[in-house]
Amino acid sequence: MKRISVKLLFAMIISFLVANLTFVLFARFVLNSYIQEKNLNVSAYNLLAFGLISIAVVIFVLVFLVLIRSHIRYLKEISEQVQKISNGDLGATIHVRGKDELAELSQNINKMSAQLRTKFNREREIEQAKNELISSVSHDLRTPLTSIVGYLNLIKKRENSDDETLDSYLYIVDSKANYLTDLIEELFDYTKLTSPDFKLQRNEVDMKRLLQQVIGEYEPILKREGIDVQTSFACEWNVFIDVEKMVRVFQNLLENAKKYSRKPSVLEVNQEIQGDSLVISFTNSINISEKMEVEKLFDRFYRGDESRTDANGSGLGLAIAKQIIQLHQGDIRAERQHDKLTFFIKLPLTQESLENHK
Ligand SMILES: Nc1ncnc2c1ncn2[C@@H]1O[C@H](COP(=O)(O)OP(=O)(O)OP(=O)(O)O)[C@@H](O)[C@H]1O
Ligand SMILES: [Mg+2]
Repeated sequence: MKRISVKLLFAMIISFLVANLTFVLFARFVLNSYIQEKNLNVSAYNLLAFGLISIAVVIFVLVFLVLIRSHIRYLKEISEQVQKISNGDLGATIHVRGKDELAELSQNINKMSAQLRTKFNREREIEQAKNELISSVSHDLRTPLTSIVGYLNLIKKRENSDDETLDSYLYIVDSKANYLTDLIEELFDYTKLTSPDFKLQRNEVDMKRLLQQVIGEYEPILKREGIDVQTSFACEWNVFIDVEKMVRVFQNLLENAKKYSRKPSVLEVNQEIQGDSLVISFTNSINISEKMEVEKLFDRFYRGDESRTDANGSGLGLAIAKQIIQLHQGDIRAERQHDKLTFFIKLPLTQESLENHK
């Protein structure tokens, strides 16, 4: 039985008893003697009886109200707080008193209020992130576009320019246009990956084979740049991943190693087990003088050395990689030790894989 109905029933019984008692006492000691003395007629008697019953009813109501006044006050308090919440004071709470349905109601309202506040804050954060993205995108799009327009104007005028100069202008326009295409494509991918309804196409895959395949394709390219690849893989371990997206992560790490490593140097790729996870690491050498904020590497549009920005990438590669790894319930982080930079990718192993290796 619900507590509040028990309390109301109890209050009703008490009020009924008090009203009855008053009725009986009043009738017995006051009216009795009055009726006997005055010898009343029927209508006066009825009037008196009606008055007496009315007094009993009023007493019943009064006693009932006194008994339930704390609940009424509590209800008022709840209603005031709900009004506050509805007026935008998200997170406003009600003091929970007792254990009855009203306390339960207050608890639920508090929970709802907290959830509304979290949701509201989250939406504000998303809105802010979107605005930031738009402003950094406009900045990143404007810079190459300005130089494309500038060089095109020079080409159009053909003022004191020989074929060689025109060719060099065309080369710049071409590379800036390619950079813009890549940036727009990456931006498109990034927004797709961060949209709430994006779904991975996951399959069970042997990570060792996948890594060997991707690295095999990159090895000649890296070698040409003076980078030797050394690998050390634990035995075959299965992970449940979206192969296309994971390859994208590895390609960006390998491409970064190609672009930003000290040359000649060695790129080490390792794969090992830590608890229930598979940890893949990529370690490359960098110049000891290279300034870099490791914790910012995964930020959108972060590029370590601003002097080489245009020629290289958009600064979205690692942000995309982080998003992909997080969608796999994994983790990616970077660590710098002197002239070595290591990227660690942690991915959960499949249950089956864990059982097979027990
Ligand atoms: N292996 C690495 N060694 C040294 N610096 C690195 C390495 N990987 C990343 N960085 C630094 O981190 C920055 C961000 O890398 P990220 O891959 O996100 O962007 P990007 O390579 O500039 O562009 P994108 O990958 O979008 O073409 C790079 O500009 C570079 O300064
Ligand atoms: Mg990159």
